[in-house]
Amino acid sequence: MSHPTLQDKVAVIAGGGKNLGALIASQFVEAGASGLVLHYNSDSSRAETEHTAAALRDRGADVITFQGDLSVVANSVRLFDQAQAHFGRVNVAVNTVGVVIKKPILQVTETDYDKSFDANAKAAFFFMQQAGRVLADRGSIVTIVSSLLAAYTDSYAVYPGSKAPVEHYTRAASKEFGSRGINVNAVGPGPMDTPFFYGQESKESAAYHASAAALSPYSTKGLTDIQDIAPIVRFLVTEGWWITGQTIFANGGYTTR
Ligand SMILES: NC(=O)c1ccc[n+]([C@@H]2O[C@H](COP(=O)([O-])OP(=O)(O)OC[C@H]3O[C@@H](n4cnc5c(N)ncnc54)[C@H](OP(=O)(O)O)[C@@H]3O)[C@@H](O)[C@H]2O)c1
Repeated sequence: MSHPTLQDKVAVIAGGGKNLGALIASQFVEAGASGLVLHYNSDSSRAETEHTAAALRDRGADVITFQGDLSVVANSVRLFDQAQAHFGRVNVAVNTVGVVIKKPILQVTETDYDKSFDANAKAAFFFMQQAGRVLADRGSIVTIVSSLLAAYTDSYAVYPGSKAPVEHYTRAASKEFGSRGINVNAVGPGPMDTPFFYGQESKESAAYHASAAALSPYSTKGLTDIQDIAPIVRFLVTEGWWITGQTIFANGGYTTR
C-alpha cells in the first residue's frame, strides 16, 4: 500500500502559530500541504500567528487562523467544524498544546492541577475526538507530549502526570480509527529550546538539562531543537503511516524506557 503524502492536504495545527507548531506548519507546506488551520489560544499569540499565516500564504497555502481555549470542548468542535467548512476536508491534525508547571508536590495548588489537566489531558482528548469525527480516511493525528514521561525527577509530578493520559488516548484512538486508515501517535521531545522551557527553569537547572542528553554535545545549545522534532511529525503523517498507537521519544538520549 502506498503511503499518504501531504500533497494538497489540509492540516489543523493546534498551537500552530509559533515555536514548534509554526515549524510543523511550515514543513507541511514545504511538503505540499495546501490548506492549514493555525490555532492559537492567548491574545498575546495573535500577532505571531497572523505573521506565520501570512508567510505561509506567500508560499501559496490557503491558511486560516482560529483562537480558542481548547480545554473548552465547544472550541474544539468549532475548530474542526470551521476547518471542514472552509476546506471541505481535513486530513491531518496535530496538537502541540501544553502547559508546564514545575513545583514540588507539597506546593501544587488545585488551580495548578486543574490548569495542567485541562490543557494537557482534557484538551488533548477532545482534540483527538474531534479529529476522529472529521478526518478523512487515511488521515493522521499527532499529539506532542514530553520526554519527562520517562523521567525520575523531582518537581515534575503534575506536568508529565497530566501528559501521561495522552499515551493511552493515543493507543485507544489508534485502535478505534484504524479501520479508516488513520494513524495516531504521540511525540515526546526532550527539554526544547523555546520560551516554554525557560519559563520555569533556573539558570542552573537549564544548564543541567542542556548537558543531560547523550547527544547534548552535538546540539547547538545542548537541548532538543524544534528542527529535530518537526521532521518526525512530518514523517509520521506521511511515510511513517504504519507507525500507530505509539509514543515516540525524541530527545537525544535524555530519557528512555
Ligand atoms: N519546550 C519544551 O521544553 C518542551 C519539552 C517537551 C515537550 N514540550 C511540549 O511541546 C509542545 C509545544 O511547546 P513549545 O515549546 O512549542 O511552546 P509553546 O509554543 O508555548 O506551545 C504551547 C502551546 O499551548 C497553547 N495552549 C496552552 N494552554 C492552552 C489551552 N488551554 N487551549 C489551547 N491552547 C493552549 C499555547 O497557546 P498560547 O501561548 O496562545 O496560550 C501554545 O501555543 C507543548 O505541548 C509542550 O508541552 C515542550
